[in-house]
Amino acid sequence: MLRNKKYMITTEELRQKYLDFFKAKGHTVIDGASLIPENDPTVLFTTSGMHPLVPFLLGEKHPSGNKLVNYQKCIRTGDIEEVGDIGHLTFFEMLGNWSFGEYFKKQAIEYSFEFLTSSKWLDISVEKLAVTVFAGDDDADRDQESAKVWKSLGIPEHKVAYLGKKDNWWGPAGQTGPCGPDSEMFYWIGQGRPSTKSNPGTDPDNWVEIWNDVFMQYNKTADGKYEPLQQKNVDTGMGLERVVMILNGFSNVYQVDSIKPIYDTVKELAVDKKNDKAFRIITDHIRAAVMIMGDDRGVMPSNLDQGYVVRRLIRTAIRQGRELGISDSFVLLVARVVIDTLGDVYDELKRNEQKIISELTVEEEKFKKAIKSGTKQAKKIMEQNFDKYLHEQGKEGMQVQSISRKEKLNFPNPLITGKEAFYLYSTYGIPVELIKELAEEKGFVLNQEEFEKEIKKHQELSQAGSEQKFSGGLADHSDEVKKLHTTTHLLHVALRKVLGDHVAQKGSNITGERLRFDFSHPAKMTPKEIEQVENIVNEQIDKKLSVSFTEMTVDEAKANGALGLFTQKYGDKVKVYTVGEDDNFFSRELCGGPHVENLSELGHFKITKEQASSAGVRRIKAVLE
Ligand code: ALA
Repeated sequence: MLRNKKYMITTEELRQKYLDFFKAKGHTVIDGASLIPENDPTVLFTTSGMHPLVPFLLGEKHPSGNKLVNYQKCIRTGDIEEVGDIGHLTFFEMLGNWSFGEYFKKQAIEYSFEFLTSSKWLDISVEKLAVTVFAGDDDADRDQESAKVWKSLGIPEHKVAYLGKKDNWWGPAGQTGPCGPDSEMFYWIGQGRPSTKSNPGTDPDNWVEIWNDVFMQYNKTADGKYEPLQQKNVDTGMGLERVVMILNGFSNVYQVDSIKPIYDTVKELAVDKKNDKAFRIITDHIRAAVMIMGDDRGVMPSNLDQGYVVRRLIRTAIRQGRELGISDSFVLLVARVVIDTLGDVYDELKRNEQKIISELTVEEEKFKKAIKSGTKQAKKIMEQNFDKYLHEQGKEGMQVQSISRKEKLNFPNPLITGKEAFYLYSTYGIPVELIKELAEEKGFVLNQEEFEKEIKKHQELSQAGSEQKFSGGLADHSDEVKKLHTTTHLLHVALRKVLGDHVAQKGSNITGERLRFDFSHPAKMTPKEIEQVENIVNEQIDKKLSVSFTEMTVDEAKANGALGLFTQKYGDKVKVYTVGEDDNFFSRELCGGPHVENLSELGHFKITKEQASSAGVRRIKAVLE
């Protein structure tokens, strides 16, 4: 990581300060989780530090205690339109502290205030801070308590904005789960000093959000009700890059040490040096794509789920690069800088470097090929449209050159309709700019408006689709999901028994209807192997084995034969689930839960599909009948 005198504070220093502060306040440091949520069917990525902690916010006991702190890799695609502004990033790091049923509003706010303003810590002038609190509605009261605490600390009344659910309520991440009012902290980025009329409610453009304290005291149920939680929790999230930005007096996050080398590389490669927004987008997108691919549960570009996000990020970056006149294969160069810049903090990037580079090489090649065939297809469509037009006009055989400019302007269908352009864009991924160029070569103008209408229609559709995807709710530990989760542990062991010990879990995704399990294995499974695996799982179910968990250290877990991803170092203790008797277990695995208590709850297990997932990785889909 870059350590340079020109920074007042680096990302590395802020991470450490944050952990030190909360450690001093009795919190235990835990590792961040993977960017790819495990056993959570409802989200594609980890979007905040609280995601991996949902079971504990709902009352399960965390092995490292009730007060935790960490930094967490996050991906948010919901704000992708904002990327390129001063502070929205697709990949960012979140600093977070949690209280599970310990301290609540007063203490949380006091900690935040002390960390931000104490000369021992960040030493931010109170004058530059403002806060927001929940204004209250039918579901929950106005948060007078938080406002009172802020005021007692020296934040004047006019710097406290009372806002509604849209701004001051966090969660649930899906449709159901822990949630509650929040109080957000903002930093002044306007000219001069904030006036007494300025706060994040009245003057949002001059304030940037830096930290969010969420008071998770409700559980939103499937029928839309907010039930008070027995355990009142605190969940906070500070944006690492944004805070380093403001502490250094930078005007945007691209100047921050964990981003700047990437941004500088992009700018250096560009022929057109003026398009700052494009530099930012390329920087953001390649950074995010590399982080997703370089995760230990990394996902490579594809047309599905997370893989599709990676593909879109890379292709958008390439497209933007093309506009800047950047030559071929620049993605690899930029990706290497991402690995250099973040590889010390996230050493999985170094472990997975070869894979990232080879996949990016393939993806860039694929995109080039797609553009080639897309261009061919575009030309074909244009020729057909042109011939059709000539036919309708009774002008068969006429050459495009001999059509007057005026007539071209009035051309009813400028060689390619918005729908057709959208088809080329969505099927071949060919940039609309390229389609425009192709039309313009012949002197025609693309119907941009119609094309954009198509894009919009498509976006609405895909939004509806993703809402459906998220509709299970992050904390949807409905019985079906729980049952399939336990089944996943059984399947993992059965596969190792039938295929061998090289089988390791590579991914898991569960919906209310089915489980999906990815695992390392070089060949297609035979029908016989599939049957054997089904039989082993069903035999255990028939034995009505019990499921239990204990907490132990990572070393004890290993010594006790637990399966699991040991590449991460966990907190002091981990949770280990055992199926069967302690001294004669069928499965033992590191896992946060939740699980059924007895296999008799499961029903009959059936594999519905076995297919390739990626090189050396197979995918099974299975159901309980
Ligand atoms: N989970 C809260 C957020 O992401 C802290 O803002």
